Amino acid sequence: MGLAILSLSLTLRICEWWTMNVMDIEANAIKTGGEPMLSDAYTINGQPGDFYPCSRQGVGPIAPAKVKFLLRSPSPQSVPTQIDTHLVIAASVNFLNTSGAGPFGRRFAASLNNVSFVPPASVDILQAYYKGINGVYTTDFPEKPPKGFDYTGKDLPGELLVPEFGTRAVVLEYNVDVEMVLQGTNVLASDNHPMHLHGYGFYVVGWGFGNFDSRDGPLGYNLVNPPQERHQMWGMSAVIVVKDGADSETKLLPPPHDLPSCSV
Ligand SMILES: *[C@@H]1O[C@H](CO)[C@@H](O)[C@H](O)[C@H]1NC(C)=O
Ligand SMILES: *[C@@H]1O[C@H](CO)[C@@H](O)[C@H](O)[C@H]1NC(C)=O
Repeated sequence: MGLAILSLSLTLRICEWWTMNVMDIEANAIKTGGEPMLSDAYTINGQPGDFYPCSRQGVGPIAPAKVKFLLRSPSPQSVPTQIDTHLVIAASVNFLNTSGAGPFGRRFAASLNNVSFVPPASVDILQAYYKGINGVYTTDFPEKPPKGFDYTGKDLPGELLVPEFGTRAVVLEYNVDVEMVLQGTNVLASDNHPMHLHGYGFYVVGWGFGNFDSRDGPLGYNLVNPPQERHQMWGMSAVIVVKDGADSETKLLPPPHDLPSCSV
């Protein structure tokens, strides 16, 4: 009997598909304060699959083991293990207290560690940092949820619904190694929150269900060949200011001469 070792490389593009103009989805959600319209189908490599009537013949299921295999980098990575800053960030869907098309006639809001970020109206944060302008943002974003609760519990108390509104930012020294735990919550409703981080790559060293366990959770981290992520996205925001390094290569560049003014 022989042993065949199969080496398989497969690229999967996982998408959502709408029958309408996708630009109208965000515009409509902003206008009404309600939920963005759900997609008409999910696709894998452009095919909606067996659950939808319009798939091409021969589109087969993909075994989860293969997908899992893809979530590894092909070669060992140098993942930092001496961590300078630990952040635990709880992501919640909340309400504004103004009326809109969300449940109970209110507008949806969202928060990270109970802070719903309000972009500064006059000066943007990069300019404020570069020019040392005070009063545009504060540097006290909480490094963990201000009040712990059973994040993924059922029937969470209504007092969790309304967050604080403000411009709190995380401020990090240049070149520190950061561990960021993203904790989903059941506040209002559980949801998937794909994340992206502008300007920095990050390793996805683990994931799981329920509440993060700071003692046992890290034992399951993949510190050998985790995937490195460069782009994911979602509509909640928080600001992390990484301070300038020592030399010109590691400092924030001046704004371009044609930077449009955003003052109102
Ligand atoms: C929410 O309501 C309170 C009191 O009714 C009001 O003072 C506050 O400005 C409101 N906040 C927002 C974001 O609308
Ligand atoms: C979130 O902030 C609001 C407003 O300051 C506060 O009433 C509420 O208790 C906070 N919730 C949590 C879970 O920290």
